[in-house]
Amino acid sequence: PDLYAVIGNPISHSKSPLIHTAFARQTNQSIQYDARLAPLDGFMLAVENFRQQGGKGLNVTVPFKLEAHHLSTHLTERARIAQAVNTLKFENNGISGDNTDGAGLIRDIESNLGLSIAGKRILLLGAGGAARGVILPLLLQNPALLAIANRTPHKAEALQQQFTSHGHIVAGDFIAFPEEKFDIIINATSASLHNALPQIPASIFSHAALAYDMMYSHELTHFLKFAQLHGVQQLADGIGMLVEQAAESFFIWRGIYPQTKPVITMLKSCL
Ligand code: ATR
Repeated sequence: PDLYAVIGNPISHSKSPLIHTAFARQTNQSIQYDARLAPLDGFMLAVENFRQQGGKGLNVTVPFKLEAHHLSTHLTERARIAQAVNTLKFENNGISGDNTDGAGLIRDIESNLGLSIAGKRILLLGAGGAARGVILPLLLQNPALLAIANRTPHKAEALQQQFTSHGHIVAGDFIAFPEEKFDIIINATSASLHNALPQIPASIFSHAALAYDMMYSHELTHFLKFAQLHGVQQLADGIGMLVEQAAESFFIWRGIYPQTKPVITMLKSCL
């Protein structure tokens, strides 16, 4: 079998081996996919070792996406703009770096959840790596507005400046948009990881059709509970995005697009 892996720190809870193994079975691809822990200061060496063992490609997760970006000898536009790489493909003449996270989010919202982003007013919470990676893919769908709100507002404003030529985009802190009506609210902060809730006012949910948390856990995150409490009908966690970004990576490596719905169902049942 061809060898692939996900590399990160921590890595033991990664669902990627399960997902890619399911994709491989479904598409009759002979691959082996496992999880690799790299020391925080040992990413480059771990990648080199993997490549020497015959590895064909890697998924890269926290905290190495920026290092993977630097390591790539060829970058797709979406990886260059995200300044982060989650998919490496080893080739004879170098290493290609791509970022499938944003495409995964868009596919999950549009294909799985059935909402189109075009013309919608979107609020993105957070201004770290996870938020950065989805801004351009969201703007390419032509939303009416993309507002970026962050606890530390200057980080949101820096992203606004970087992306302002790509669409209608505004930025501020969590209370900067008291009059604005949002259709879709996406939590890209890492608050849910720390079992915390971003200090957002409940009023931002007044018109929202969908609350989306890029994180997931076996029960609703604080953010999704808060949205539910304030009347949001449709709630989604990051499982769909996780499987969709994996499908994009699988396609990059194998040239075959796997079916995602059965894998999403399987993962949800074993969370
Ligand atoms: P990631 O790559 O997951 O985005 P990151 O780059 O460290 O990680 O960014 C974390 C994001 O979550 C930031 O937007 C951070 O806000 P600050 O820029 O103000 O630090 C946000 N965040 C983390 N914990 C939070 C909390 N408890 N409430 C609100 N925002 C939080």
